[in-house]
Amino acid sequence: MKPIYLLTPLLSLLPLTTPHPTTTTPPPDNKAITPGHATIHNNCTTPIYIWSVSSTTSPQYTIPATQNYSEIFHHDAQTGGVSIKITTVRNGLYTGSPQMIFAYNLVNEQVWFDLSDVFGDPFRGRRVTVGVVAGGGGGGGGGEEKEMIVWEDGVPVGGSQVRVIGGEGEVVVRVCA
Ligand SMILES: *[C@@H]1O[C@H](CO)[C@@H](O)[C@H](O)[C@H]1NC(C)=O
Ligand SMILES: *[C@@H]1O[C@H](CO)[C@@H](O)[C@H](O)[C@H]1NC(C)=O
Repeated sequence: MKPIYLLTPLLSLLPLTTPHPTTTTPPPDNKAITPGHATIHNNCTTPIYIWSVSSTTSPQYTIPATQNYSEIFHHDAQTGGVSIKITTVRNGLYTGSPQMIFAYNLVNEQVWFDLSDVFGDPFRGRRVTVGVVAGGGGGGGGGEEKEMIVWEDGVPVGGSQVRVIGGEGEVVVRVCA
């Protein structure tokens, strides 16, 4: 049901992903933490459309201007990682519209994440940022947000976009920021 190309960026970029469910790699242990959230903030003046894709594909979520989509970081037993796919076009996931993909993999109490585009750049000409607030004990939480990825013109910048933070961190992707 889910074309394999949807998984390719995740599998090729995230080093700890296990592509085959039958592998003997032990399951990741995230039990000692309270995972944070991936939040997509729509600062555009028009809606954006979001699907959360792992071994299943969520329904389409319509996020109006100024609103958020948010999910708790989780690990998928089959795909490992999760791809949050974003378009500016209704049903865009199914019509080959430009997508921006925030992919993450929660494994061993860390979140690996990456931002990429396929089929074009839905936010070309607009600013896109990924900010992180470190979570969890020790640091006292409530820390300052740090921008870990910035696309000034809404198109991917050169080099690897893969980042890693503690699994209790909060990640906020802002479009039209
Ligand atoms: C959206 O998420 C951000 C970051 O977590 C938060 O500061 C903001 O209050 C949220 N906005 C809405 C409308 O929920
Ligand atoms: C949201 O977009 C407006 C323009 O529509 C801009 O002035 C503002 O700085 C943006 N805010 C954030 C937090 O990205």
